[in-house]
Amino acid sequence: MAKVLVGVSGGVAAYKAVEFVRLAVLAGHSVRVIQTPASLRFVGRATFSAITGAPVLVSEFESDPSRGCWPGEELPEHAPISHLALVENADVFVVAPATANLISRVAAGSSDELVSAAVLAANCRVLVAPAMNNRMWENPATVANVATLRERGITVLEPGEGQLASHGEAGKGRLIEPRELLAELDSAGGRSDFRGVRVLVTAGGTREAIDPVRFIGNRSSGRMGAALANAAASRGAEVTIICANSSIPTSSDVKVINVVSAAELGDACDQQFPNCDLLLMAAAVADFIPTAAADQKIKKSEGVPTIGLTASPDILAGLAGERRADQTVIGFAAEHGGDPLANARTKLKSKQLDALVLNDVSVADIGFESEENLVTFISADQELELARGPKLDVAHSILDQIKILGTNPQKG
Ligand code: CTP
Repeated sequence: MAKVLVGVSGGVAAYKAVEFVRLAVLAGHSVRVIQTPASLRFVGRATFSAITGAPVLVSEFESDPSRGCWPGEELPEHAPISHLALVENADVFVVAPATANLISRVAAGSSDELVSAAVLAANCRVLVAPAMNNRMWENPATVANVATLRERGITVLEPGEGQLASHGEAGKGRLIEPRELLAELDSAGGRSDFRGVRVLVTAGGTREAIDPVRFIGNRSSGRMGAALANAAASRGAEVTIICANSSIPTSSDVKVINVVSAAELGDACDQQFPNCDLLLMAAAVADFIPTAAADQKIKKSEGVPTIGLTASPDILAGLAGERRADQTVIGFAAEHGGDPLANARTKLKSKQLDALVLNDVSVADIGFESEENLVTFISADQELELARGPKLDVAHSILDQIKILGTNPQKG
């Protein structure tokens, strides 16, 4: 978990910074907040102080009762000389919301209040989350200032589009949502508990050719697999994802291998599995494949064809059966009907898995193409329903449980 300094400047979106700080603390980060004087018109320091459990600073001239420390740290005997001790000790500095005015001050190298002074003095990763009226965001002055910040290595996040604070106005300029900001913080190195762990993810759904234009497929979109890959990468893992017919974007540091059929997926897994510490087998693999695919398109005029099917090998069971003791293997099961928990337990055992993530796709609005998911994490001695939420959040909860399992990824 990281020491996160949050700089709040004076815009209506300061209320969203409260939620971001709350989520960051919940995620286990240690957070300190500094505010510009103007931001106090929107959110008082007592709010941030209550959430972080630490004093909030507004002026370069006030002394820090916590002496530049983060919650839980032992206070030094002497107060630090510099008002910049906080930013010196931070792992990541997040400025949210960053107003047009604050961005212009940072671009000019100004240090006339604590937040811009801290940006100027930062030697850690700086994330700037702008929030302003859309015309201010599009103004050439702001465009140039943002470009300057980016040239200097500051990460300026794109604001969201939609309704703005001023009544009836809409456009680009909203502060990105607190959960997205938390994900950005994590990928900026805010969390590193999977550092050193090599993770192999499979995602999407395989397609088995009937002829050159038709195939047997399934409804898996690859979203959950992509979320797992991104979540693991953001926590420092070295991630390879084998994508079966999925084009859901993954972060730039994830290595992508594209495959189409179950046989190709099996070959790619055989190649990659020996080099991983943790396998997350989220792909939906065809259980039955056409015995022989036709070389040419089957013509309707030739009548209804009979398509012979053969069982395809169980890739996951094969890999789990031959794994080394230091490898962790997690399966994913989308169940529909019957007794999902009993089916999942049978799979956990028969495939020799460390855990299985059960997704009951008969529940409306979750699974397959949906943005949200609700899963049960099943291991030898527990069944835990994880909180329903966006797939990235669920992916992080799955990784948290894998850590608790105490198998190989603990080494991170
Ligand atoms: N799996 C696999 N190879 C297959 C079938 C499934 O590796 N040929 C993997 C999936 O990637 C998943 C897990 O096994 O991680 C469970 O998949 P699921 O389709 O739920 O189980 P099946 O064993 O195929 O059983 P059924 O479809 O009858 O429920």
